[in-house]
Amino acid sequence: MGTMLVTGGAGFIGSNFVRMACERTDDHIVVVDKLTYAGNTANLGGLDVEFVQGDIAEPSLIDGLVANADTVVHFAAESHNDNSLRDPSSFVHSNLIGTFTLLEAVRKHNARLHHISTDEVFGDLAVDSPERFTETTPYNPSSPYSATKAGSDHLVRAWIRSFGIEATISNCSNNYGPYQHIEKFIPRQITNLLDGRPAKLYGTGEQVRDWIHVDDHNDAVFAILERGHIGETYNIGADNDHITNKRVIELICELMDGKFVHVADRPGHDQRYAMDATKLRTELGWSPKYTGTGVDGLREGLAQTIAWYRDNESWWRGAKEAVEKQYELQGQ
Ligand code: NAD
Ligand code: DAU
Repeated sequence: MGTMLVTGGAGFIGSNFVRMACERTDDHIVVVDKLTYAGNTANLGGLDVEFVQGDIAEPSLIDGLVANADTVVHFAAESHNDNSLRDPSSFVHSNLIGTFTLLEAVRKHNARLHHISTDEVFGDLAVDSPERFTETTPYNPSSPYSATKAGSDHLVRAWIRSFGIEATISNCSNNYGPYQHIEKFIPRQITNLLDGRPAKLYGTGEQVRDWIHVDDHNDAVFAILERGHIGETYNIGADNDHITNKRVIELICELMDGKFVHVADRPGHDQRYAMDATKLRTELGWSPKYTGTGVDGLREGLAQTIAWYRDNESWWRGAKEAVEKQYELQGQ
């Protein structure tokens, strides 16, 4: 039995990862999370983990935690593009200074690190492009969020090459599932409809996101932790790179018997993300559980996610009014 330190483990993907880790490993699990607006200890309810509230950019705290860890799985970040357009400063702090601080501790204490990143580091593709991002696609981020994530990946790569730390990186596409903050596209629409508001589609909705269920993402992270090659980067995606935002919102409206309206577009809106996960599939034998062609691949996972938000109104209700007020200020 070892010790696994999970940064950002009280957020959406991190808390789903911790739940999976409690089922799959005997490790002692320590979660460090600053509990920003996006972190919530209720996400870890009932799980046998040690929780430490703190900032990953705080060197003495992180040094002490990494000194006692065998493995570090790094989810902590500011994660929402729209927020980064309003105020990028916390993104530079958490995503760049935070990752730097963690890397210095990992270097000092020889811990194994897995760094969680995003497909957005590659920029975007044209809506009608048949291309997909591979691990060697040049970085070309668009927003302050994706630029700071790209910077954090470069730091990890430099620490691998220059200092020989034992690290891997994964870049994943858009996640959905339970415990996702209601500022994000899918839970915002589900909770709008549950709340008697219309769903809100930015612009024409022709953009494409390569949706993956959060459990498939985390299952891939386990594959990399267990079988991944040190120093390597792995793309994670579930081949859903052909479904427009408009089609997703129509599907949510169909499942919930609701309506949507068009609202102001996001400035600098990335058009299409598409991940080529061949390396992960062929070298590590990973494949997603939530599959199917066209929207059928999404229907089952979305129906489960809708049921979760319906059954857990107390989890999201408190944040709803403020989130919608903020969007309203931007005409969204
Ligand atoms: P989230 O916003 O739901 O959770 C982020 C968590 O990090 C929160 O609990 C927050 O309190 C914590 N945090 C933020 N700054 C911190 C700091 N300085 N110190 C300690 N904790 C801090 O985000 P998420 O959607 O779960 O994303 C998790 C990771 O996965 C991020 O690195 C993100 O870039 C990456 N990612 C997300 C997606 C997606 O679709 N959501 C896809 C690919 C990659
Ligand atoms: O691609 C991975 C990324 O996916 C992660 O790195 C980010 O952390 C995560 O937030 C997500 O970024 P996006 O910007 O793609 O996700 P978001 O949920 O904000 O928006 C998804 C799409 O839906 C995007 O094209 C904008 C659109 N949208 C979003 C909202 C909130 C709407 O049409 N209406 C909305 O209300």
